Amino acid sequence: MGSLKGKDILHGNQFSKRDIDTIIKNASYFEKELKKKKALNLLEGKILATLFFEPSTRTRLSFEAAMQRLGGGVISLGSVESSSVAKGETLTDTVRTASQYADVIVIRHPRTGSAREAAEAVSTPIINAGDGTGQHPTQALLDIYTIYKELGSLKNLVVSIIGDLKNGRTVHALVELLSLYQTQFYFVSPGALRMPEEITSNLTQRGIKIEETEDMLKATNASHLIYMTRIQKERFTDLSEYERVKGSYIIDEAFLKKLKKKITILHPLPRVDEISTEVDDYPGAAYFRQMRNGVFVRMALLAMVLEGIP
Ligand code: CP
Repeated sequence: MGSLKGKDILHGNQFSKRDIDTIIKNASYFEKELKKKKALNLLEGKILATLFFEPSTRTRLSFEAAMQRLGGGVISLGSVESSSVAKGETLTDTVRTASQYADVIVIRHPRTGSAREAAEAVSTPIINAGDGTGQHPTQALLDIYTIYKELGSLKNLVVSIIGDLKNGRTVHALVELLSLYQTQFYFVSPGALRMPEEITSNLTQRGIKIEETEDMLKATNASHLIYMTRIQKERFTDLSEYERVKGSYIIDEAFLKKLKKKITILHPLPRVDEISTEVDDYPGAAYFRQMRNGVFVRMALLAMVLEGIP
């Protein structure tokens, strides 16, 4: 990939190990700089547009915070109902409009492939903040940064990814990145929510070891890291099917007692019931630190896309 200047960020598979090293280095730099002072002026005069056609708390707020910490400005579509999308304006026309006002556009949309469509419509860099059940590459990059900080290395890890693997765009992007580091995967899900076949077959063809199982305890006891995900009610067309699988996997105090050793637990959040609040004080529970890392990684990405910092 080389320099990110002027580039779109659309998919986990666009990053090499070298790119990831650079992003980690830059995120770490911004984390340290923010400890010294709260605001920098690297992106003064630049504008970020956030176009969120699906709900978000962390991605949107951390992108907006990242831009403002770097001295830039933010404009936002606000709710879909309060924009001309409510009058029937297309995604492409909405993105064309934002590109006249902003230097970079962050977009979340329910349709898989929508970010790429947006990128094809304009020359302004597009950052995919989640396209349906497709990809969420900036979440995967902050997950990688968190794993590096929590475990000290990305190499040769055994990782259990648990929950809604069919619909989870965060995990679809994360396995792309982790697979660069000889990761072994346990994919733990109900049968109806297994990792898509195109992802598992791609991993297998590349010699990556994966095991699909419904046994969370067996998988986690063999792993360095748990990546827990929410069963995504909003993706089900048949709610009775959701009722059948909801609550399939829950990490609570009773489950932690069954573990043979301390383990690191990540979750992209939001959570519903899959991690009990009693787990929050467990030393390996890193999901709130993970959420905070989003600002540093997104600062790095904005600075790299807009200023081409090496
Ligand atoms: N992890 C994540 O994408 O969170 P939000 O949906 O709150 O942005």
